[in-house]
This record gives sequence, structure tokens and C-alpha cells, in this order.
Amino acid sequence: MLLHNTIHRFIAPFLCLALLPLFSFIELILTLVLHIRRTPFNPAGKVIFITGASSGIGAELAQEYARKKAILILVARRRNELEAVAAKCLELGAHTVVVEAVDVTVEQDLKLAIHKAGDRFGCIDLLVLNAGIGMAQNVRDCSDLSFFRQITELNYLSVVSAVIYALPFVKAASRGKIVVISSILGFTSAPSASGYCASKYALKGFIDSLRMEEPSIDITMIYPGMVDTGIFDKITGNKVGPNNTLSQVISTKDAISLIVNAVNRGARDEVFSLEGNFGWFMKPFAPRLLDLITTLGFQASLKRKNQ
Ligand SMILES: NC(=O)c1ccc[n+]([C@@H]2O[C@H](COP(=O)([O-])OP(=O)(O)OC[C@H]3O[C@@H](n4cnc5c(N)ncnc54)[C@H](OP(=O)(O)O)[C@@H]3O)[C@@H](O)[C@H]2O)c1
Repeated sequence: MLLHNTIHRFIAPFLCLALLPLFSFIELILTLVLHIRRTPFNPAGKVIFITGASSGIGAELAQEYARKKAILILVARRRNELEAVAAKCLELGAHTVVVEAVDVTVEQDLKLAIHKAGDRFGCIDLLVLNAGIGMAQNVRDCSDLSFFRQITELNYLSVVSAVIYALPFVKAASRGKIVVISSILGFTSAPSASGYCASKYALKGFIDSLRMEEPSIDITMIYPGMVDTGIFDKITGNKVGPNNTLSQVISTKDAISLIVNAVNRGARDEVFSLEGNFGWFMKPFAPRLLDLITTLGFQASLKRKNQ
């Protein structure tokens, strides 16, 4: 058995490399066929449900779709911030804006918000699952499971419950779409982010499977690198933020233009930045080297912060 497995471990990569041109050709054909069958997404009058819409990426995305006259359902916990975003959206030309001050980790509250939207508008054309928190702590500094539970409940399980309850409404749309905001830490890891990485990796497994079950829905996973939002102000610990990182940092506006473009193209996975794309392709081939580069980069950023 050991011999067999050793042979398989060596044969599989060579076989894949030898067949890479054929695989790439078939993938290209599949991508082209899907692209030709797809019509561009026109947000005017479409029902767009966004979680985490009170700040950062979610708030900016809501405003972008408001300019295009969408019907918006904005979800987050802070009512005042949500109402300020809603007022801005109406000013920018949104067709209708609904505010739902809901904690998405409370399953029944999230279910109710989704059902209210679905029953009122008949469908959900675009479901954006964006609410999330970050992490900046080593496992050795954690004394119990509480933070891991919290980050899993929010970054992963709230997405699962939103999908479960929204699926009939997304399928009722003429070509429903789901967009999930992951992170480049959703496929490559980093120190001080174990719980965050685990929650975002879990999303990938869930969504990749859902895609096969629901081919009539366009599902886009967004993997941002560092975006200059307030998420870093809410994290304590070994924090590397936009001011001290050695990684590329982009503005919220630039992130939104990448997300909107990915939705229009019906992209499967949208990875931000050179660093992110490098990690995406390098990980299967040189995981140890990637770990080393990431760790050294993180340590250099921390050193820069402490200078
Ligand atoms: N900024 C980056 O560099 C970056 C990079 C990669 C991925 N991302 C991902 O992008 C997403 C958005 O982050 P952001 O940078 O825009 O951060 P942000 O400004 O802190 O936004 C997070 C949003 O999530 C909402 N939220 C948090 N807990 C919630 C809960 N229990 N129930 C409902 N809503 C909740 C917050 O609203 P309330 O506090 O009002 O509830 C807020 O609207 C996250 O999933 C994050 O992991 C960000």
C-alpha cells in the first residue's frame, strides 16, 4: 500500500503536467461556452441583497448598485450606519432601499430578513454575502474556543444559512447570482489568522460543491487582498494593517470595480493583486516555499509597524 501510494504521489503531478495543454484547452472551451450563454448583469430594477452593508466593501457596493437603480436590501447590525448608507443610496438613484438591522449569526433573524425580501419582491437577483470579521492572534495566545466559534459562525455559517434560506428566491430570478466575499486568506494562509483562514477556506469547499448542485445559478467567489476599510480597526493583536503591510493595498472603490466587473462576467473566482494570483497558482506546486515567503513577509510587516 505504501509503495502504491508513493508511486501515485509521484505519478499524478507528472500526469497532470503532461496533460496540462489538453486540460487547459477543454477548460477554455467550457469558459467560452459559459461566456457566450451569459447575458451581462443589468442591475436596474434588480433585487440585490447585501450582508455587511453598513460599512466598507458592502456599503460601497450598495452605493455602486444604487447608481444603477437597483432595489437594495441592506443588512448589518448597526441600524444608524445602515440608514446613513440607505439615505446615500436613495440620493444616488436606487429604485428602493430596505434596511434590515440584523445579526446574521442569528439564524431566525437572517431567515426572516430573507423571506421578507423574497416575499415582497418575488425573487433575489443577486445575493451578496459579505459580512465578516478579521483576526490577528496566534493559536498559542488563545485560551479557549470562543473566538474561533464567533468567526466561524459569522464568516462561514452565516453564509451557509443565507444560502439555505435564499436559494428558492435566487432560483426564482431569471438568472440568479450569488457573490461571496472571501479573501486571499481563503486559499493561502498567514500567521495570526488561523481562525480567519479556516472560516474562509470552509467557504470555498461549500461554494465549490454548491456550484455543482445548482448550475442554473452564477456563483462568484471574490478573493480580495488588502482593501483599505475599517476592518483592521476592529482587530486587536498581531495586527498588520494598510499602513504597515508590505502587501499591495487597494481602495474600497477599486475593490468595488473589480467585484462589479467579476459579477458582470459571471466569473467563477476573482483573485485580487499580483500577490494573490501568485499564491493561487503557486500553492499546489510549492506550498512550503509559499509558507516561507508569506511568513517572512508578515514578520517584515510587523517589524515595520513596530519601528
Ligand atoms: N478589508 C480587507 O482588506 C479585506 C480583505 C479580504 C477580505 N475581506 C472581506 O471583506 C468582507 C467585508 O469586510 P470590510 O473590509 O468591508 O470590513 P468592514 O468595513 O468591517 O465591514 C464588515 C461588515 O460586516 C458587518 N457585520 C459584522 N458582523 C456582523 C454580524 N454579526 N451580523 C451582520 N453584519 C455583520 C458589519 O456591520 P455591523 O458591524 O453593523 O454589523 C460591516 O457592515 C469581510 O468578509 C472580509 O473578510 C476584507
